[in-house]
Amino acid sequence: MFSCLIVRFTAVVWPMVQMDPSKSGFVGSQVELRCIFVNSNPPVKISQVTWQKVVNGTKHNVAIANPALGVSVLPPYKERVSFKQAAVRHRTPSLEDTTIVFSNLQLSDEAAYICEYTTFPAGNRENTVNLTVFARPSTRMTLTSPTIVARAQKRKTTVATCVSANGKPPSIIRWDTRLKGEATFQETRNQNGTVTVRSNYMVIPSRETHKQKLTCIVTYRSEKITDSVVLNVQYEPEVKIEGFDGNWYLNRQNVQLTCRADANPPVTVYQWKLLNGSIPSNVEIKNNTLFFRGPVTYDLAGTYVCDATNGIGTRTGIVDVNITEYPNNLPVEDPDPSSDLHNPGAAIGGAVGGVVLLGLAAILLFVFLRRRQRTFKGDYSTKKHVFGNGYAKAGGLPAHPPMPKNLQYPDDSDDEKKSAQIGVTGSDFDADGEDLKRPYFTVDEGESRDYDERTLAFQYDPEPELADDMISQTDGSVISKKEWYV
Ligand SMILES: *[C@@H]1O[C@H](CO)[C@@H](O)[C@H](O)[C@H]1NC(C)=O
Ligand SMILES: *[C@@H]1O[C@H](CO)[C@@H](O)[C@H](O)[C@H]1NC(C)=O
Ligand SMILES: *[C@@H]1O[C@H](CO)[C@@H](O)[C@H](O)[C@H]1NC(C)=O
Ligand SMILES: *[C@@H]1O[C@H](CO)[C@@H](O)[C@H](O)[C@H]1NC(C)=O
Ligand SMILES: *[C@@H]1O[C@H](CO)[C@@H](O)[C@H](O)[C@H]1NC(C)=O
Ligand SMILES: *[C@@H]1O[C@H](CO)[C@@H](O)[C@H](O)[C@H]1NC(C)=O
Repeated sequence: MFSCLIVRFTAVVWPMVQMDPSKSGFVGSQVELRCIFVNSNPPVKISQVTWQKVVNGTKHNVAIANPALGVSVLPPYKERVSFKQAAVRHRTPSLEDTTIVFSNLQLSDEAAYICEYTTFPAGNRENTVNLTVFARPSTRMTLTSPTIVARAQKRKTTVATCVSANGKPPSIIRWDTRLKGEATFQETRNQNGTVTVRSNYMVIPSRETHKQKLTCIVTYRSEKITDSVVLNVQYEPEVKIEGFDGNWYLNRQNVQLTCRADANPPVTVYQWKLLNGSIPSNVEIKNNTLFFRGPVTYDLAGTYVCDATNGIGTRTGIVDVNITEYPNNLPVEDPDPSSDLHNPGAAIGGAVGGVVLLGLAAILLFVFLRRRQRTFKGDYSTKKHVFGNGYAKAGGLPAHPPMPKNLQYPDDSDDEKKSAQIGVTGSDFDADGEDLKRPYFTVDEGESRDYDERTLAFQYDPEPELADDMISQTDGSVISKKEWYV
């Protein structure tokens, strides 16, 4: 308490110079460097005020105010430094406030400045302000080139550069993007104390990087500057052939194959080929589509190849087309499946919807059959199963479990012959629900001989044929017929 009073007392007794501890401004701007003389009681006499800049530890005079001789601002500062208070320049001046105004700041103005009062009889009193000069950087983001080409040899390439030039203090650069890549950073210090920050963003150009956005975020002091670019990557066509649904059966109408290509720049040429053959004569080629006019015949089978070319290169799509005698999927809800044959629209719809429905039905029937099998006592038909597993890569139909394809039983019944025309009729459907799960059709024994001669295109899986007295089970196992009939 006592010492506190003494401090205050001293402050009033001894004259002092008040200044801001630090000041800052941008290049080109104007700052005030405050200097206030607090006189003592009784007051001392001010004989001169000197502003000095401290450079490398040595003091250089900037401005002087003298009560008798007037005001002097020294050469390098003449144009840019002035005393704020007009009273400093009066004939009988007041020198209590000798604040100076620094205009058009330069980077070289950054220094410590001393405001020194020479008094009588108290002697010199002084204080210091640190002046900091900021330089706003110029920031820009550039694409390395307007278009980048995705090359086969996957090499990291600089796609964009972000530069924040001549900033003081230095900027911080970050990137914001969904692109997988990496950034390099480089800082260059200039003579005048500014710093140029440069960052390159590198990616492996690919189809996936095309049209991706890349944002550069520059933080300068508390400011954020963002700039974005969108990549334009050129790449070879990515080709696939659409249209073969694995269900091209005899007499189906208006089938077509379309060559779909994702490419930048767009595909200019589509070329169709049939491996080991020539494109059937009833085919019409329009741009990227093959239209097969008229009904489907076995002649259409083969491996179709589409070459798509753009400015970057050529890539190939392939589809193996094979033809079945009958449609290989039948909608469960349709009581008369033969109608599908005469109604291509329904058949096409069935091809899509049937897959889903067959899946559902398969689950239900699996449960149903499991129960039935334990009690089954009915007779067995003699059937030949023709398996139409013609699924191309583009077909999208699910694969089915392996199964025996040629089961022959001696006890051929007349009933079966009638019902076997198109495979699944009401009774067959009910008695042997497995037909639903699998895309094969039964044909009559009697007809099967010419059938085999006609359909060279069919391939049978080289599975061992089952003995006549064996019966396949839904779980893929095989039991003897004798066992079954017990
Ligand atoms: C002014 O700058 C000098 C040197 O950079 C430093 O030592 C000093 O503490 C600074 N003074 C203030 C009041 O910031
Ligand atoms: C300060 O001193 C350093 C060496 O000590 C010198 O390189 C620099 O140029 C000097 N700066 C000025 C403004 O004189
Ligand atoms: C600082 O130096 C750089 C490089 O010499 C120059 O481009 C820039 O304009 C300078 N900045 C200022 C504020 O003088
Ligand atoms: C198809 O042609 C290629 C060569 O063009 C040949 O290697 C291949 O054996 C042929 N395939 C058939 C089934 O003829
Ligand atoms: C086929 O290409 C021509 C021009 O090459 C275009 O005018 C026409 O619309 C295209 N047809 C289809 C079905 O894409
Ligand atoms: C149909 O073609 C596929 C290949 O696309 C082949 O795996 C399958 O065995 C063929 N089916 C028939 C019945 O020839």
